[in-house]
Amino acid sequence: MKRIVILISGRGSNMEAIVHACRDQAWPAEVSAVVSNRPDAAGLTFAANHGIATAVVDHKAFGKGDAARAAFDQELARVIDSYAPDVVVLAGFMRILTPEFVQRYAGRLLNIHPSLLPSFPGLHTHERAIEAGCRVAGATVHLVTAELDHGPIVAQAVVPVLDGDNAQALAQRVLGLEHRMYPSAVRWMVCGELAISGNQVRHLGGEAQLFTL
Ligand code: GAR
Repeated sequence: MKRIVILISGRGSNMEAIVHACRDQAWPAEVSAVVSNRPDAAGLTFAANHGIATAVVDHKAFGKGDAARAAFDQELARVIDSYAPDVVVLAGFMRILTPEFVQRYAGRLLNIHPSLLPSFPGLHTHERAIEAGCRVAGATVHLVTAELDHGPIVAQAVVPVLDGDNAQALAQRVLGLEHRMYPSAVRWMVCGELAISGNQVRHLGGEAQLFTL
């Protein structure tokens, strides 16, 4: 049985989708813990109600600056390691991670980002896509590397940007596909079904790595 630890900062709807898929599809894996950097993250309640261990590493307790960031990441890694995960999943985890943290979980650390990377790394992705006049938008699941919102792309979801869209409407359209895409990507990872060569990631069974409406 492979072990998955999921990191969240808020709502946790992607985490929920992964928990449901893991159980409903009987993956050879379990979600061992959900860890948040915010004590009030709504997703913690879902996890606890579903019998999943929860933990909080409150970044505010560490203060600001490089030393604080390093200390936070060390404590986060200590908590994560106590669950001995095979795969660590960032699901709406809104902290920039140190290179040391990323290196520790290299090759088994996944993130979902709400844009079609390499376009729009960082924040406010949907506003920026609309502002730029994009006709498509989406989300990307990628392996995490030290550079923010970079790393080999495991899957992408694409939706149209419709006339009159605001960021909320677009985010909602993208989120629906995130909830299909991220569980598939995590399943591929835990089942060892991905071939990774440089930036190229291929599903060995030929499952589609592009998700559309
Ligand atoms: C998702 O849309 C995810 O792509 C995004 O935050 C949302 C979390 O929602 N992630 C990032 O912006 C990471 N930089 P959720 O908590 O309901 O899964």
